[in-house]
Amino acid sequence: MMFFAAAFLAAWSLVTATCAGECPSGGEEDAVEMLQAHLTHEGRLHEDAEIRGAGLTDDPLCEILRNATWPTGRVLCGDAQMQTYGWDVYNQECAGLTPRFLLEPQTVQDVQTAVKFAREHQVNISFRGSGHTYDCVAFKAGSLNIDLRTLGSNVTISYSGGSATAKMEPGVNFAKMFATLPSTLSFTHGTCESVGVMGYTLHGGWGATTSTWANESIVEIEVITADGELRTLNAANQGNEAKLWDAMHVAASSFGIVTNLTIQLFNHSERSFWFLPVLNSFDYLLSVLPDETSFGWIGLARWDSVFYQKNTILGSGWFLQIVLKDDSMWTKAKAVAWIMSKLIIIGITYQSPYSFPSSAETWDLGRYPFQTASVFTRFYPRTEIRGAAKLLEGFFAQHAADCRYNLGPIQGTAPRLPLVTVECNTPSSAELLKQFVKENSNVLQPNRPGSGYIKLPLDGSSSYRQAYFPQYAQLSATKCIWDPTDFFFLENGIHPSGCDSARAEPVKK
Ligand SMILES: Cc1cc2nc3c(=O)[nH]c(=O)nc-3n(C[C@H](O)[C@H](O)[C@H](O)COP(=O)(O)OP(=O)(O)OC[C@H]3O[C@@H](n4cnc5c(N)ncnc54)[C@H](O)[C@@H]3O)c2cc1C
Ligand SMILES: *[C@@H]1O[C@H](CO)[C@@H](O)[C@H](O)[C@H]1NC(C)=O
Ligand SMILES: *[C@@H]1O[C@H](CO)[C@@H](O)[C@H](O)[C@H]1NC(C)=O
Ligand SMILES: *[C@@H]1O[C@H](CO)[C@@H](O)[C@H](O)[C@H]1NC(C)=O
Ligand SMILES: *[C@@H]1O[C@H](CO)[C@@H](O)[C@H](O)[C@H]1NC(C)=O
Ligand SMILES: *[C@@H]1O[C@H](CO)[C@@H](O)[C@H](O)[C@H]1NC(C)=O
Ligand SMILES: *[C@@H]1O[C@H](CO)[C@@H](O)[C@H](O)[C@H]1NC(C)=O
Repeated sequence: MMFFAAAFLAAWSLVTATCAGECPSGGEEDAVEMLQAHLTHEGRLHEDAEIRGAGLTDDPLCEILRNATWPTGRVLCGDAQMQTYGWDVYNQECAGLTPRFLLEPQTVQDVQTAVKFAREHQVNISFRGSGHTYDCVAFKAGSLNIDLRTLGSNVTISYSGGSATAKMEPGVNFAKMFATLPSTLSFTHGTCESVGVMGYTLHGGWGATTSTWANESIVEIEVITADGELRTLNAANQGNEAKLWDAMHVAASSFGIVTNLTIQLFNHSERSFWFLPVLNSFDYLLSVLPDETSFGWIGLARWDSVFYQKNTILGSGWFLQIVLKDDSMWTKAKAVAWIMSKLIIIGITYQSPYSFPSSAETWDLGRYPFQTASVFTRFYPRTEIRGAAKLLEGFFAQHAADCRYNLGPIQGTAPRLPLVTVECNTPSSAELLKQFVKENSNVLQPNRPGSGYIKLPLDGSSSYRQAYFPQYAQLSATKCIWDPTDFFFLENGIHPSGCDSARAEPVKK
């Protein structure tokens, strides 16, 4: 048994630790070309003086913003300069939301200046991290858009009493964290390496390899609020700041712009993740999928367009995702024994998947962006998850070329419930998915309080608000305190309601 397990594992080492979850597909080349009206990365790095001198747009505010952030901020205005911006977004539709001004700040002060400028001149504001959303909430047409990545992407690890924290800047994505952390430390992260850590952690953050939310690891937040002030938030805050601290854990982008984030790290190495192509049918796999096992957690995924070249689907196209509880040989052997005992047939002729995009630069290689994106992700009680999973698979089976499917991994009796996800990336399949969810709302319960995880909505509307913000009323009251004019407006975010009109401006402290 042990010998078999070792041989088996050697054969499969290639397919571990890849990108799971709702990841990208290959070859949307025409979409990429459209976005590559932008220049190359090098092409973007004009001399500031050149940009400033060439600022001959007829927008009078452009020069005011440029002067105000001079010499550290770089401001693009007008069509010609906007063309030079590398969008680096997941959903091509985001690139249609052309801003009026685009600021690449180098200092926190630049961002504060931009906030004050936008308020004073009544320009809408938007701000982006890694641009890895389905619904383009980081962009608004006609706005002043701040590309927070130019603030930096340093990660500083600190040790205190044997426990470790990581303090990071807004440009950090998961790839950067993996590259920085020693193998003895880990954190809750998503599955696509190009997702921004701040955008993820500040809105919840679900990960396949841990059973806690990423937001539970937040130790400190440095944030610029709607009044342009820079504040430091942590668990020691009292009063209104304590309310802001709470809100920043689930709906941060409705409340402020985070310039530095500190998280607690786990004092153990990352759990191993196996990704095994199997020949069995979905129905069979679902019937043997346990809530939990002694060796770890199991889930199912199918992303034909990601894992296979055209017309090369292996077996049933389904993948078993196994998260091991530790790396001992005994645990691995138990996982292999489970696979054999359930008569699961592994697709052994399978080659390693394509390499996955891990940074904005690699997005240009043809994986991103998708034409569009629409995602349905919901948590279900363990008694309901298989029913919802089967129903959604019925939809997915009709659209496997344009959509991707992910179930679990189901994480046992952990308080966080198991989830199922379907993502579609063509306008027609995305629309059909929305209709399907609506028609099957009795089973899928799209608006059940707390059943969705934040920032994975079906669209940019607030129609399923309860799923993401069961504590909406409380967040709305906090919004009244900190952003009563809804300066950080997001359609599917938090809005002030019933505010005391005497409080037209956010209170200081
Ligand atoms: C393919 C894919 C896979 C994903 N997988 C997972 C997953 O496994 N688990 C999970 O939980 N989520 C997952 N997500 C969702 C992802 O975590 C969120 O979309 C996240 O908000 C992305 O952050 P970003 O910086 O990459 O994106 P952006 O589009 O740049 O930002 C997203 C939002 O966060 C705000 N934001 C970004 N930076 C800051 C900041 N510094 N301060 C304040 N607000 C900020 C933006 O304004 C915007 O509203 C996935 C998304 C995609 C597209
Ligand atoms: C911007 O700065 C330049 C150089 O100092 C100055 O000549 C110009 O008048 C300023 N423009 C505005 C609108 O303040
Ligand atoms: C600013 O945003 C609001 C809310 O979306 C919108 O109604 C308004 O038209 C926007 N203003 C401009 C100038 O784009
Ligand atoms: C973030 O914090 C680090 C460490 O305190 C600091 O060196 C860095 O300048 C900060 N970066 C930003 C963008 O605030
Ligand atoms: C942060 O990164 C910059 C380069 O982006 C580097 O010059 C600087 O020294 C780094 N700061 C720290 C504290 O690591
Ligand atoms: C972290 O793990 C190491 C090795 O496993 C152990 O020696 C140390 O005490 C742990 N630290 C804390 C704070 O748990
Ligand atoms: C973390 O995010 C999840 C998902 O939105 C939420 O249910 C939970 O309450 C958040 N935790 C904290 C500490 O805010």
